[in-house]
Amino acid sequence: MLEFADRMSRLGTDSAFDVLSRAKALEAQGRSIIHLGIGQPDFPPPDHVIEAAIKAMRDGHHGYTPSLGILPLREAVAADYLGRQKLKVSPDQIQIVPGGKVIILFACLMFGEEGGEILYPNPGFFTYESAIAFTGADPIPYPLLQKNAFAFDADDVLSRITPKTRLLILNSPANPTGGVAPRLQMDRLAKGLEKFPKVAVLSDEIYGRILYDGHEHVSMLRYDSLCDRVIVLDGWSKTYAMTGWRLGFGIWPKALVHKADGIAINCHSCVNAPAQYAGIAALEGPQDSVTHMVAEFDKRRRAIVAGINAIPDLKCLAPGGAFYAFPNITGTGLSSKEMESKLLNEAGIAAVSGASFGKYGEGYLRFSYANSMENIEEALRRLAECVSTSPKKSIFA
Ligand SMILES: Cc1ncc(COP(=O)(O)O)c(C=O)c1O
Repeated sequence: MLEFADRMSRLGTDSAFDVLSRAKALEAQGRSIIHLGIGQPDFPPPDHVIEAAIKAMRDGHHGYTPSLGILPLREAVAADYLGRQKLKVSPDQIQIVPGGKVIILFACLMFGEEGGEILYPNPGFFTYESAIAFTGADPIPYPLLQKNAFAFDADDVLSRITPKTRLLILNSPANPTGGVAPRLQMDRLAKGLEKFPKVAVLSDEIYGRILYDGHEHVSMLRYDSLCDRVIVLDGWSKTYAMTGWRLGFGIWPKALVHKADGIAINCHSCVNAPAQYAGIAALEGPQDSVTHMVAEFDKRRRAIVAGINAIPDLKCLAPGGAFYAFPNITGTGLSSKEMESKLLNEAGIAAVSGASFGKYGEGYLRFSYANSMENIEEALRRLAECVSTSPKKSIFA
């Protein structure tokens, strides 16, 4: 009889992978499925990035690298922040990790323990709640509501801080809603946080370059008053369509980077060297692939939002960033899990229930529009048909 640590029962999982495996099982039976579930760009990384990885291998970069990452890559990240965002960060503050997600666990491990509280967005990326609970800290959700275009309300977030709060997690542009925090709310939050000097902030900015309709990305690094306690998560997965390369980074306050490095040394040691060289090429090379990808996403975003809003009973705000649409489905009378199953089993559309992203996601569905326009159009046709045959047994009345 094995005795597992309690924390193992507190780990959550990514429902998008669960939907994917059910979708694959249906495909194996010959069913046609349109994949709007998983959140990854359907573009290849730029050629010069692939070439840089191959060259690194041919040049003999097969060994361990420094645990924080190779210096030229950390310098390239710092130069990119200075060039694009006019933000000065030192390469010494940058930690290269195997995927940005690692920074979430590291920050939670650093601040979370029994008796502590960590605030996180809800609906939000599943890892937040899971990683917080894993550490023994209490996950305290703050809602992202449709009436605020799924951006946080700074006063509401600040009102949830207690003497037990150790860490506040932010995510803008957001998964699963595509919501973007406006500068006004960011400023208000940053100002308010000055009153809570013991609260660290993890700002997940992985979708920071995927923005539409003139929305701007306001990095938490802008606020000098918080510079000793803001951690930024970013990476190559979404911007350069490199999800499988497992390459991301954290920008840590100077006093914390060595603690984060200590966790890395006990865990993955370092990121594989060819991926790191590819990361330099991505940042220093032409950026037209990013511009092209975002322009394509924008066309699909407009198509999916218009198509969903043309269906009676569904309402979808135009997301300001990322590549997710998050329509309100309460008009159908089905719960979001019921709708997820119905769409998959009856219409052949893989989408993820809003409730999978937390209780405030109930009544919504997440569609990732990182798929071809042709598939999106077919999905919209199937969706309209499926919703029109849905019995309205309102559970929300
Ligand atoms: C909000 C958010 N943060 C972090 C990540 C993790 O990115 P990576 O693949 O670089 O680990 C994801 C991936 O889906 C995400 O949606």
